[in-house]
Amino acid sequence: MKLVVDTPERIAELAAQQYVDLISAKPNAVLGFATGSTPLDLYAELVRQNRAGAVSFRHVTTFNLDEYLDMGGEQEQSYRYFMNKSLFEHIDIAMERTFLPAGELLENGDPASYDRLIESVGGIDVQLLGIGHNGHIGFNEPGTPFGTLTHVAELAESTVLANARFFDSMDEVPRVAATMGIKSVMNARSIIMVILGSAKAEIAKAALQGPVTEAVPASVLQLHPSVTWYVDHEAAKLL
Ligand code: GLP
Repeated sequence: MKLVVDTPERIAELAAQQYVDLISAKPNAVLGFATGSTPLDLYAELVRQNRAGAVSFRHVTTFNLDEYLDMGGEQEQSYRYFMNKSLFEHIDIAMERTFLPAGELLENGDPASYDRLIESVGGIDVQLLGIGHNGHIGFNEPGTPFGTLTHVAELAESTVLANARFFDSMDEVPRVAATMGIKSVMNARSIIMVILGSAKAEIAKAALQGPVTEAVPASVLQLHPSVTWYVDHEAAKLL
């Protein structure tokens, strides 16, 4: 495990450099991406590096962690829309090799086929993660068994509330979503976890230094052989 405590700006640069290094060594790398506000600076930095010619995404394949069910990519709240607008439309990526779990689910009704698809291209080289205030990763809420693969998950009430900021009314906030499971995440060869802001200080401590428990899904990362935790000074204040 590697812990890097720095400013959000520097974290975006350092994490982006990990992608640049990986892709220059392996142009057809398989990348696991995340949504939420946490990766936005990193995505902006990847766009900058791509435009500067430091990295090309032409041959990569990407898999996002999660997606709301029954939401088309043209809907602004969908994670497909988020990824297109914050990253994919600005880089030289092949859109047909960018995957989110909902599309696959709708095609064949078997969520774990997403894991098989990931496996069929060689597995994820680096999985990016943010963390929910209750320790969730993807939409794996507290209590999710560590052995789960991609599945349809019910969102915790606190997650529904946190997501409400993106919707006009509470009624519109989805209660279920497709998400890679904890095991799907742990299958990645390496993991980048980014934790920003003082509101995440307690969960950062629980995830990094507390017991490994299904009550704090991100604590499972303590068992992974190759995780870089990027924590800004505010989120690291209790470490
Ligand atoms: C959602 C996503 C998670 C993300 C979390 C934190 O619940 N499903 O993957 O990590 O939000 O979001 P933010 O980065 O905005 O705090």
